[in-house]
Amino acid sequence: MIRSRIIGTGQYLPEKILTNHDLAKLMDTSDEWIRQRTGIAQRHVAEEGEGASALGYPAAKRALEAAGVDPGEVDFIICCTTTPDYLFPATACLIQEMLGCRRAAACDVSAACSGFVYGLATADAFIRAGLYKTVLVVGAERQANRLNWKRRETAVLFGDGAGAVLLRAEEGERGVLKTYLGADGRHADILIMLTGGSRKPFEDTTQEEEQLAIHMDGQDLFKRAVGAFGLAVHKTLEGSGVSVDDLDLFVPHQANTRIVYTAAERLGLPAEKVFMNIEKVGNTTAASVPLALDEAVRQGCLKEGDNLMLAAFGAGLTWGGALVRW
Ligand code: UT7
Repeated sequence: MIRSRIIGTGQYLPEKILTNHDLAKLMDTSDEWIRQRTGIAQRHVAEEGEGASALGYPAAKRALEAAGVDPGEVDFIICCTTTPDYLFPATACLIQEMLGCRRAAACDVSAACSGFVYGLATADAFIRAGLYKTVLVVGAERQANRLNWKRRETAVLFGDGAGAVLLRAEEGERGVLKTYLGADGRHADILIMLTGGSRKPFEDTTQEEEQLAIHMDGQDLFKRAVGAFGLAVHKTLEGSGVSVDDLDLFVPHQANTRIVYTAAERLGLPAEKVFMNIEKVGNTTAASVPLALDEAVRQGCLKEGDNLMLAAFGAGLTWGGALVRW
């Protein structure tokens, strides 16, 4: 059976770091509040003028290098982002040009924090169908210049960064075993960026900071996120022959330490099997899962044959999971 094996991972974080203490000088917040409620201690912030492609490109390059694969071998590039460089063309096309992947098709996937899992499932489907052999999935987010720094309830949560994986079609038991995706548009309004799209372009607004903001019902989202993580993991495992107890590592979307550990506890997953890096990078939305995965790889948390679960939850609402035999 042909499977998509992850043969390389990479990440990129901008040099500039904004700590909770830095934020406390800008708004009415504290290191203690942010750490206790979210698990975040700092986040990285890209330079002025840098878009998502400037972050996605080095992460993708590192994934190719880790796999020892030439850019010319890539068939398809999927960039998962909520902060594309432009409304069009796709950020994936900009990354394709930067990498020199001349023969690769390229498009973006937009599913907010679940974007990477959606992108991975899409890549896996193309590979299983026999259409492509080598697919690059990049999660890249440039959130900081879109945040309203007067809105403490969202400004403290997000960070910039990128992660990437390179998938290759291979015969055998290793690779993506199963994916599952879900969505519920009835709750689109509980996490939404109202301006900048076709319904309310920036030029049609008064440009007041209030409008240039992410609107979020944090408490509602918190409860739904815990449930969605559980659903994503159970649905992904269904029929796979792998149980929660068989999982060796869980790399979730880094939304909030409390959300993730509550979901893990309800799933019966011990905390030591949960990989978290939110403390150092914050919530990097679609970049969060591949960024955490690359970190887990670098720290030697995965060995051949391990059962890895990736899961995410985000605006849309969207959620999903991917079960991978490492
Ligand atoms: O990736 C998916 C996207 N987002 C999420 O998954 C977010 C899900 N939700 C959450 O993570 C949590 O709801 C938050 C971290 C956003 C907030 O934590 P919470 O425990 O739900 O806090 P809260 O909204 O109930 O606010 C508690 C208090 C309020 O003050 P009062 O009314 O008790 O006086 C807020 O005004 O904390 C206040 N507050 C803050 N205080 C200091 C809200 N934001 C801040 C802040 N610093 N940054």
